[in-house]
Amino acid sequence: MCSSALVFSVVTSFTGVLCCFLLPQPVYPCIRLNNRPIIGILAQENQKSDPHPQGISYIAASYVKHLEAAGARVVPVRINRTEDEYEKLFNSINGLLLPGGEVDIERSQFARAAKIFYDLAIKANDESDYFPIWGTCLGFEQLTLLTSGKNILTVTKTEGVALPLTFTQAAKESRLFKTFPKDLLQALSTENITANYHDWSLSLQNYTNNNKLQSFYKILSTNTDGHTEFISTMEAYKYPFYAVQWHPERNAFEWVQKTGMVHSPSAVKASFYTADFFVNEARRNFHHFATKTEEEDALIYNYCPAFKGQDVAFLQKYYFD
Ligand SMILES: *[C@@H]1O[C@H](CO)[C@@H](O)[C@H](O)[C@H]1NC(C)=O
Ligand SMILES: *[C@@H]1O[C@H](CO)[C@@H](O)[C@H](O)[C@H]1NC(C)=O
Ligand SMILES: *[C@@H]1O[C@H](CO)[C@@H](O)[C@H](O)[C@H]1NC(C)=O
Repeated sequence: MCSSALVFSVVTSFTGVLCCFLLPQPVYPCIRLNNRPIIGILAQENQKSDPHPQGISYIAASYVKHLEAAGARVVPVRINRTEDEYEKLFNSINGLLLPGGEVDIERSQFARAAKIFYDLAIKANDESDYFPIWGTCLGFEQLTLLTSGKNILTVTKTEGVALPLTFTQAAKESRLFKTFPKDLLQALSTENITANYHDWSLSLQNYTNNNKLQSFYKILSTNTDGHTEFISTMEAYKYPFYAVQWHPERNAFEWVQKTGMVHSPSAVKASFYTADFFVNEARRNFHHFATKTEEEDALIYNYCPAFKGQDVAFLQKYYFD
């Protein structure tokens, strides 16, 4: 609440309006927030291993629950739409999550849509329209390609392993980790709680040798497969873009019994705090649907997730045509 009568200083910032109250003391800075955020999650082509797909694309329900648990609503961003449709949707939502998966980051429809939204987000943020993007696993890999313009990933032995994060010096002052409780940061750095399920990684070496990536992203944590040191968490310097090679959503919402899956209290807490952070970023965006009906029709509540069994990577999936 920023009642204008009480405001003694109004500063227009990158994010919108910052203001301070005169009464009562103490003086709290406050940022105008959108407490009804809606976040898009990008769908992708079905997995080849899926025996019963019910459409041409899917979103794993764990990503939806992850964001919902932190106070957001979700809209599916379906593949194979026109650029105009994507632009209209971009102007209706408050952030975008690029999930994990296994499609081609150069040739898939997932990659095509990701590029359209990425370009729109760069333009929006340059014009002080705060629009956050989060990439998880495949989403992380997609973001490295979008920024560098090429695929510079390398194969690592990181399929089904839970690792503790090796934080960089920059982590402490990062937007992402600054908001995490101290005991959680301690757990993240000492316990094996970040789930890794990827064959490809951005090595520290290739990051360092790539000017575009190095000037765009700040490294917050790294990991190693015993051979190659790779980036596990990064955030952009000038844009509200975040990428994790690990899977925060799985700790709380996927139950396949497999190495690398951890459901301990600190693992679940790590899951929640990452979502909480990103949803708070989305609260700083004020895009909205043109009408209530358009919003209603776009929300994921119009779809029913299919239960795929507990013994597969994604226990519930939403399918789309
Ligand atoms: C999606 O788009 C691609 C390329 O534009 C096309 O090859 C494919 O057939 C489309 N799929 C569907 C189901 O429309
Ligand atoms: C660096 O990127 C190239 C592709 O441009 C890839 O072939 C190579 O394996 C990568 N090397 C490392 C150490 O990541
Ligand atoms: C825990 O992480 C360490 C790396 O810090 C790794 O060497 C070890 O294999 C991991 N343990 C498990 C059970 O994944």
